[in-house]
Amino acid sequence: MPGKYLPYGHQSINEDDIRAVLEVLEGEWLTTGPAVEGFEAAVAEYTGASYAVSFSSGTAALHGAMHAAGVSPGDAVVTTPLTFAATSNAAIYCGGRPLFADVSESLCLDPEQSEHVCRNAGAPVKAIVPVSYAGYPVDIKAFKGLASRVGAVLIEDAAHALGASRGGARVGKEADMTVFSFHPVKHITTAEGGMVVTDSKRFADRMRLFRSHGITKSPGEFARPYEGPWDNDMISIGYNYRLSDVASALGQSQIKRLGGFVARRRGIAALYRDALSGGCAENIKLPPDHPGHAYHLFPVWVQPAIRRAVFESLRGNGIGVQVHYVPVHLHTYYREKFGFAPGDFPKAEAFSAGEISLPVYTDMDDDDVLFAARTLEDAVARLQAEQSEL
Ligand SMILES: Cc1ncc(COP(=O)(O)O)c(C=O)c1O
Repeated sequence: MPGKYLPYGHQSINEDDIRAVLEVLEGEWLTTGPAVEGFEAAVAEYTGASYAVSFSSGTAALHGAMHAAGVSPGDAVVTTPLTFAATSNAAIYCGGRPLFADVSESLCLDPEQSEHVCRNAGAPVKAIVPVSYAGYPVDIKAFKGLASRVGAVLIEDAAHALGASRGGARVGKEADMTVFSFHPVKHITTAEGGMVVTDSKRFADRMRLFRSHGITKSPGEFARPYEGPWDNDMISIGYNYRLSDVASALGQSQIKRLGGFVARRRGIAALYRDALSGGCAENIKLPPDHPGHAYHLFPVWVQPAIRRAVFESLRGNGIGVQVHYVPVHLHTYYREKFGFAPGDFPKAEAFSAGEISLPVYTDMDDDDVLFAARTLEDAVARLQAEQSEL
């Protein structure tokens, strides 16, 4: 039994991060100040997008993007069942109906199946939301074509994919809006936080209003006469979804190290691939690879009959594996409210039934990776042998 616990994900905080946060705490602005704009500018510059709008979480950012896309009661939103519930919940917040299409070999939303779902939606499809699952950059070009054919807004849920790229272009440039999360297990963290990047000023303006109660102080946006410098007008419904300066300062400091974070995640994935390519390799399926993969997760697949025992054996050895995800349509709320049932999306369900996410985080050392790989191999070999004796 090792003394060390390896979580499946973990933040990497250094002295610079701490200093950056302390500076803000000792300064004038804890929120709505210059660190927010500074962090937004840094994310816009990193991704190459024209605008970046920060939010208090990735979930709030998704909500903001759905609102900007105009998702309203009676609209449909097409997404993948192999995601965190927040992706499709955001459509429901706006009164939209989530529709799912199955995943492809990439474990991301399948463009052809999505087209079929869009054509048979029975309601206007206001947004299509592919998720770059685990950090594998989804085939966004296929979805751009589909979105323009069906007149939908394309929102990439890139909560797993900050720092991922396709054909040399960083994720964040191609969809109409791209959403990131800064939860501690993600590539960079602000504790809680999220961001939407876009090239559309209209979307950016709508999101800025939405994250701050729907209240504007710009006289040009007033729906009634402007009365003076104290005046403000609430012109639509909104929320308090703002990211603080304290959190933004951490983000500004973290993003400076993002290149190194992504490189280390790729290095860990390469080590896993090496370590798991021999032995009982046929019993452990490795995740699809891509040169621009950002490896938020390293999701392996084992026979569903032994998944639980493998999972428990890894946990018992101090390896904090997780399962990503229970397919969203199988959550009770989705079954009861929308009538989804097991068997609706067989590929996502079959993958989920055997999935285990191995630890991936910047500060893991190579020995940690090799230990996790060896423990997995041993558990699978033992449990597979027991299974075949039955
Ligand atoms: C794919 C996906 N989308 C959205 C979110 C929501 O992000 P947050 O936790 O920052 O609200 C997550 C969070 O893990 C996620 O994995």
